[in-house]
Amino acid sequence: MNIGVVGMGFVGSVTAAVLADQGNAIIALDIDSEKIGRFNSGDIPIFEPGLKDLILKNKRNLKFTTDYKMLKGSEIIFVAVPTPNLNGKINLDYVYKAIDSIKSVNNDAIIVIKSTVVPGTGSKIKDEFNVKIVSNPEFLREGNAIDDTIHPDRVIVGGEEEYAEKVASIWKFTNAPILITTRENAELIKYASNSFLATKISFINEIANLCEKIPNSDVETVAKGMGYDRRIGPLFLKAGIGYGGSCFPKDTEAFLTYAEELGEELKIIKAAKKTNEDRIDRIIYILKKKFVEIKGLKILQLGVSFKENTNDLRESQALKLYRSLIENGADVVVFDPVNAVEGINFCGNLNDCLNGVDAIVVATEWPEFKKIEDMNIKVPLIDGRRILNPERFEEYIGIGRYCSD
Ligand code: UGA
Repeated sequence: MNIGVVGMGFVGSVTAAVLADQGNAIIALDIDSEKIGRFNSGDIPIFEPGLKDLILKNKRNLKFTTDYKMLKGSEIIFVAVPTPNLNGKINLDYVYKAIDSIKSVNNDAIIVIKSTVVPGTGSKIKDEFNVKIVSNPEFLREGNAIDDTIHPDRVIVGGEEEYAEKVASIWKFTNAPILITTRENAELIKYASNSFLATKISFINEIANLCEKIPNSDVETVAKGMGYDRRIGPLFLKAGIGYGGSCFPKDTEAFLTYAEELGEELKIIKAAKKTNEDRIDRIIYILKKKFVEIKGLKILQLGVSFKENTNDLRESQALKLYRSLIENGADVVVFDPVNAVEGINFCGNLNDCLNGVDAIVVATEWPEFKKIEDMNIKVPLIDGRRILNPERFEEYIGIGRYCSD
């Protein structure tokens, strides 16, 4: 099939590469000419395992462009542009601009909204622009994006049956359950799913706070025991310094505002957001409990990205922790396998980073950090992600693990 994809971020570039690999002819568009230049030269500007290889393998099926006219022959056009928040409310400017540009060159294509948009957006666009609109929300995770796209848990398609069926047919190869429904349900499923997952994380983080005060208790074992119950499930019960990234914080906030405008208060999601915001102070509290005074402490922070296997710093809790430690007067040095951001005190070699530090804080789940277990660490180590073996340290303080005063 001739397919267009507008917006070459994580979602758009992975969608384009996977659909090209399935034999479709893809026009991949972005308005950023530098980005398109990099895609064309093979210098892929998105850090995502396997993406570069998949793009290079499917070069013949994949044309990168900034020119909307190239979408003239597309039967289906995916829109995967950002929907950032502006003062806590979703901003749909990029989506509207993309639809407007598509309509000016192609009035027949089915336009598929992959971007996360509040319920009612697709139908509003349909009425305003008189175009065929289908909602097909995205559930891929950064760092696992290709596998999540090829093997999703489900495919959700919302819209008029004839168009929705056509879009669903593109994803038949995944063998995942396909739910065809209204646009509004599809849009809502995305927000409800992300908000539920964020809530699950905040829930276990509160249990972790409790475990820290109960002798002989450990949130890892509590989560494991809970997870055996199939009604609960083991995933997204990993306690830590909180969730970040370009989706959970933004989507929960936009969802809360959207509901408020409808006169509804989403109390549970509001609480999940507050618990997440409090995670940074929890690490400060743990440090103060240990050292009384943070001012003047030399701290090595491991990790600055919002999770492992990515260089993405958007809404990163680790980055927020770094800033908070600095505000509290600590002298912080950061080791991260891929990031080196201006304004942050980075050190490139883990061995050297350890020189003269008073404490170590693990802030991201990079598997590389396991190396520190063999480095004969004598200073207190605060494992904010519970990735290390406590036995390997003289003084190990783990999130959600009982710690005597
Ligand atoms: C998330 C969802 O998982 C995807 O399904 C969704 O498609 C995506 O948002 C989106 O809306 O585009 P992503 O933000 O890539 O994906 O990352 P996750 O792997 O979900 O992790 C989010 C945050 O939660 C990270 O900071 C991670 O460290 C944290 N987390 C995750 C925990 O603290 N504990 C857990 O048990 C799981």
